[in-house]
Amino acid sequence: MNTILPPGTKGFPLLKQIHWIADPLHYMDTYVQEYGDIFSNYILGSEKPWIFVSHPQGIQKILTDDAFEAPGSANKIFTPLTGENSIFMLEGNRHKRERKLLMPSFHGERMREYGQLITEITQKVMSQIPRHQTFIVRDIMQEISLDIIIRVVFGISEPERYYQLKRLLSGMAEIGKSPLTSSFLFFKILQQDLGSWSPWGTFLKQRQQIDQLLYQEIQERRENPDESRTDILHLMMAARDEEGNGMTDQELRDELLALLLAGHETTATAMSWALYWIHRQPEVYEKLMQELTNLPADADGMDIFHLPYLTAVCQETLRIYPVAMLTFPRMNKESVDLMGYQLPPESMVVGCIYLTHRREDLYPQADQFKPERFLERKFSPYEFLPFGGGARLCLGMALAQYEMKLVLAKILLNCELNLTEKYPVKGRRRGLTLAPKGGIKMTLLNQHSQLQKSAELSRTV
Ligand code: HEM
Repeated sequence: MNTILPPGTKGFPLLKQIHWIADPLHYMDTYVQEYGDIFSNYILGSEKPWIFVSHPQGIQKILTDDAFEAPGSANKIFTPLTGENSIFMLEGNRHKRERKLLMPSFHGERMREYGQLITEITQKVMSQIPRHQTFIVRDIMQEISLDIIIRVVFGISEPERYYQLKRLLSGMAEIGKSPLTSSFLFFKILQQDLGSWSPWGTFLKQRQQIDQLLYQEIQERRENPDESRTDILHLMMAARDEEGNGMTDQELRDELLALLLAGHETTATAMSWALYWIHRQPEVYEKLMQELTNLPADADGMDIFHLPYLTAVCQETLRIYPVAMLTFPRMNKESVDLMGYQLPPESMVVGCIYLTHRREDLYPQADQFKPERFLERKFSPYEFLPFGGGARLCLGMALAQYEMKLVLAKILLNCELNLTEKYPVKGRRRGLTLAPKGGIKMTLLNQHSQLQKSAELSRTV
């Protein structure tokens, strides 16, 4: 059977790769205009072109059809960050088992328990911001989300180790700060250790220090097991495979790093965008405040989680600039038909979340922030997919949404903020994600108890 790749591979692969790294939004907007719902193109230093799909039917097929797998080997880009044994790199039955093991920690009762922790951390971090001085929203949101993930994943109790880990993890995340520093993740040739003044050398040193801390924590827990612990590290250490073997130190370290990194950068960016849109559009702020201040005084985290307008604001935030622009790659073992193209075996296909979310046929005036669209109609999981889908659906999806809503509610009820950006903030690459350029500037006008009700609420939430 003749195989046919979708169009789009004309031109120099290296130039296209640089385009993708330097300005991914322009890259995707350009090629979708030229080629439409499905195109092939070069990214990530991969030798063969990747196929970008942004039609819901195509997305559904690659995420749910047995013809497509979600190979761990396609996620090699993560290895410098999280090693060879993290969930990103697993596939087949081992991948399924790992998801089953980790899933309960991110759902149901367990998540409810994190509510108190999330609001306490938000309160603490926000109370340290000086009034009337400009601050960068993304830095503050990162501090909140990093605190949350370290406490949830680790349940770490030793303060010195906690502070060191926090400092090192924020430092390591700096590698993705700009498109230029992000290139170190994409091009192996740049991954040269030239000592502590070079970006890669600094990165390696930080990673080594983080490893030391993680291995210390693991060793101490092996020596002094405490069955009353409920954190995710404890769960992973207690797990056994069919032969009765537990995870090795190296496996535990890789998985911890994967969860820490996947869990804080993404959520911090999403919360920053949400605060930006809420303060940029006064009518959105008004509606949201009305909803929040109308909650009963004894409302808890789950009541906040179920608020319809807050939910719509978070969905619209994740639609307009999805933090993850693409799903992880999927691959077909055999030749397969995808939207009229007969793909050769082992083609790399990605769901293009950004382009799907910008389709005018689904989201009229797609470049405008309109939470109401999520109240007016339901979107299928292949039309709205900020957390991907199928075999690799984001493991932290419920936690991320819960965290976003609780943190936003706490901040809005307690703090009067002023957006000090004169011009619209655009999205730009931050490592593997899409983040607000410049991080968004705001000032804190007041920490207040605007209404008696909001004061009562902010104590419960
Ligand atoms: C707003 C925040 C977040 C967004 C937008 C997001 C988005 C995504 C996306 C798009 C994927 C790939 C899905 C696919 O290929 O189908 C993914 C995978 C993943 N996410 Fe998230 N994520 C977020 C927060 C989190 C959090 C808080 C955690 C955990 C603490 C987490 C852990 C993971 C893991 C472990 C995977 C890989 C799953 C697998 O390989 O089976 N994420 N996420």
